[in-house]
Amino acid sequence: MTDKLLDIAGLCAGTEDATILHDIDLTLAPGTTHVLMGPNGAGKSTLGHVIMGDPTYRTSAGTISFDGADVTADTADKRSLAGIFLSYQAPVEVPGVPLYSFLRTIAGKRPELKMTSRQFRARVGELAQQLDMDSSYLTRELNVGFSGGEKKKVEMLQLLLLQPKLAILDETDSGLDVDALAVVSRGIEAYRASCDGTLLVITHNTRILERLDVDRTHVMVKGRLVAEGGADLIPKIDREGFEQFEQTGDGDR
Ligand SMILES: Nc1ncnc2c1ncn2[C@@H]1O[C@H](COP(=O)(O)OP(=O)(O)OP(=O)(O)O)[C@@H](O)[C@H]1O
Ligand SMILES: [Mg+2]
Repeated sequence: MTDKLLDIAGLCAGTEDATILHDIDLTLAPGTTHVLMGPNGAGKSTLGHVIMGDPTYRTSAGTISFDGADVTADTADKRSLAGIFLSYQAPVEVPGVPLYSFLRTIAGKRPELKMTSRQFRARVGELAQQLDMDSSYLTRELNVGFSGGEKKKVEMLQLLLLQPKLAILDETDSGLDVDALAVVSRGIEAYRASCDGTLLVITHNTRILERLDVDRTHVMVKGRLVAEGGADLIPKIDREGFEQFEQTGDGDR
C-alpha cells in the first residue's frame, strides 16, 4: 500500500472559460482526516468535483493519483469504483428512482459488497436506523422532496454502505439541526472506525469537527491552497477569519 492515498500535483482546473483552481498540491495519507476551509467562492467544491472526475470541469495541468494509480483522465464512475466518494454540497434529485434501488445499483457494481437481497435489505435497514432515518424513505424517489437535512443523511447512508477509501464531504453539515448534526457526526465517526477511511472534510462549521481527530487543515483562497496547519488552525480561523490569508492569494483569476 502506498503512503499517499491521494496525491495531487500542480493541478490547474476550471471550466472551458476560466481557470478556477491554480497549481494545487495536496497529499493525503491513508487513514488521515483533512479539513479544507476557505471563503465562499474560493474553489473548495470545485476541487472536490475535480478529484471525483466531474466532467463539468476540465483539468488543464497537473496530475491526480489515487491509491498508486494516475486517475487524472479517468471518468467519475471509474474513480468511484476505485474508492473515491464525494458527498455533494447540494445533492441531486433523481425522479423515478427509489432510494433503495439506487443503493442496490451502486452496491451491485462493487464485488466487495456482494450480498444476497436479504442481507442487503438488512444492512440498509440497519444503516437507516443508525442514521435515524425512517425506513419509508427507502421506497421514496431519490432525494425528491427530501428536506435539506434528509438529503445529507442519504449521502451518509451511501458513505456507510460503500465504505470508500477516500470520502470527500462537501458541507455535509450545512443546514442540519443539532440532532441531525449529531447523527451525521456519529456517521462520520462510524465510517472512520469501520474501515479506517480517509476524509477530506469541506466545511464552514467547526462543530462537525468536534468529534473528529483532524490531522491537517488546509486553507483555500481564490483557487489556491495558501496555508496548511494542524487542528489548531481551525480555532484560529474561527477567531480571525480568512483575511489573515487573503494577501497570499494574488487574485489573478
Ligand atoms: N460550473 C461552473 N461554471 C462557472 N463557474 C463556476 C462553476 N463551478 C464553480 N464556478 C465558480 O468557481 C468559483 C469557486 O466555486 P466553488 O463552488 O468551488 O466555491 P466554494 O469554495 O465551494 O464556495 P462555498 O463556500 O460558497 O461553497 C466560484 O466563483 C464559482 O462561481
Ligand atoms: Mg462549496
